[in-house]
Amino acid sequence: MNNRFLVLGLFAFTITFNSSPSQAWQTATLERPASVSQQDRLSNTASSKMNMIASVHPLATRAGLDAFAQGGNAVDAAIATALTLGVVDNYNSGIGGGCFILIRNSAGEFFAIDGREMAPSAAHKNLFRDVQGSISGPSRTGALASGVPGALKAYGQAVEKHGRLSLKSALRMGAKAANEGFPITRAYADNLQGTKRQMSRFPATAKIFFREDPSSKQIRPYEFDEKLVQKDLAATYANIAQKGTDWFYHGEFAKATDKWMKENGGVMTFEDVSNYQTVDRTPVRTTYRGYEIVGFPPPSSGGVHVAQVLNILEQFDLKQLYDDEPAKMYHVVAEAMKLAFADRAYWLGDPDFVEVPLGLIDKNYAIELAQRIDLSTVVASQHGTPPNADSEFFERHTTHVAAADADGNWVALTTTVNTTFGAKYVIPGTGVIMNNQMDDFVAIPGKPNAFGLVGGEKNSVEAGKRPLSSMSPTIVLRDGQPILTVGAAGGPKIITEVLWAIINHLDLGMPIGEAIAQPRLHHQWAPTDLLLESNFDPNVVKGLTSRNHSIRRSSGMGICQGISFDPVTKTFTGAYDPRTTGKAMGQ
Ligand code: DON
Repeated sequence: MNNRFLVLGLFAFTITFNSSPSQAWQTATLERPASVSQQDRLSNTASSKMNMIASVHPLATRAGLDAFAQGGNAVDAAIATALTLGVVDNYNSGIGGGCFILIRNSAGEFFAIDGREMAPSAAHKNLFRDVQGSISGPSRTGALASGVPGALKAYGQAVEKHGRLSLKSALRMGAKAANEGFPITRAYADNLQGTKRQMSRFPATAKIFFREDPSSKQIRPYEFDEKLVQKDLAATYANIAQKGTDWFYHGEFAKATDKWMKENGGVMTFEDVSNYQTVDRTPVRTTYRGYEIVGFPPPSSGGVHVAQVLNILEQFDLKQLYDDEPAKMYHVVAEAMKLAFADRAYWLGDPDFVEVPLGLIDKNYAIELAQRIDLSTVVASQHGTPPNADSEFFERHTTHVAAADADGNWVALTTTVNTTFGAKYVIPGTGVIMNNQMDDFVAIPGKPNAFGLVGGEKNSVEAGKRPLSSMSPTIVLRDGQPILTVGAAGGPKIITEVLWAIINHLDLGMPIGEAIAQPRLHHQWAPTDLLLESNFDPNVVKGLTSRNHSIRRSSGMGICQGISFDPVTKTFTGAYDPRTTGKAMGQ
């Protein structure tokens, strides 16, 4: 039991929720949003024997804790948290976006729910080659940038099949935050400021996120700590609570989307939204030094490449390399990342449309790749040819929620509208920010996407196809029991962030909070630079430069959340990324 949260719990109060146009929907109990305690500022972790939830926003974490308090399990907590993030952190994720949910239930079974967006039925390979560029390009801003959103359907199915409470209950805290408003974080304000030019193109969007400045009387985006109220989104949540996800997929939301698309040059139709389906996939599994790593399969590239890099790294004694000279270990990890990302660009795409060779996570293939790594210098790399690859087939924002409970339910949920505020527009009257996930396809061959990623035919735009993702919700087992879960935001850096959390925790023995806080490096093959966070030890930088890496610095690299479990003390430790606000809580 974490005492400081017990104390916060004493301030619970009761409110009446009435954002639904038709009715006072429900009475909710919510902890008073308290200022962050001193202890919290000093630590990015919390511990509990009962359960744990970690996210990037204290209000969203509290929604998860509330689900636990009402008798919900880790799935209920994760979905309540995700739906609240869709309100208080909706520049990163929301029901206008998509998600991957990896669940391990108390019986030890795994489920991978694919709620990734789908390209509309009128989309085709030349969609973005045919249209002339507008601000940020049509694959990033405006009507064509959006895939059919899948997050809500996946959330609904997760709760229905694996939770103990209801979707209605999971929506409650988010609805309250939308209805009553909440003070926006500095990151939220910065992201609004950074996207104001694109957002102001869409009047219904500007109406929600911009206000008149009290002194200058000018219209401007909301600023840090100002209270943002989202009545339309509150009504949307209330409608879904009352009528279920059908309101979204077969009712008012689908109709409003169809209408807006027709008026704004989009191609998404009522039928596209109605036809959206989640897919139950089989997780990707590998072993790593006696642990079992369970990840999300394609159309995520995360599970495959986390597994592939770990398979390569298993050929090295990382701890020994680190003890010899830390730069040696960082060099090997960077070279392994580079090899994996070269394969990613070439081999990965939606498995419902293209063949993704499973040989990518073959242990012998990893040995072959490991042999290409030179401890003293960088080596130029191209994609390899994994076993059983059939040559006939050649052809910036997110958030992660981690949850676990003492019954053995674990959830790793990564959800996104893609870059900040997605495609920068809301469907009028709904408050729902739509994703710009179409940019995760190879929109124009040879042209890097928002994350500098290039790709091949396998990830080209096709009707009904899901764009390749880097989201990597991961659960790690020892002797069949979960001992760690991690996931992250940051485009392709998600894969490397998850790798660092695993390496730092399992190889270097760091507690989860420290493993996440450590400076990270990232290589994605193209561009060829090695990206290093600015707080790296200068000796490591020197060691990497002497091995001929071309180094670029970055002030912060993604946001990662995780939970570890100590089987001896039977204690969960949840951690959020100190690179941003966040909160981990358990009962
Ligand atoms: O699915 C993907 O890989 C991307 N759409 C994720 C975007 C992301 O993480 C943005 N965060 N900074």
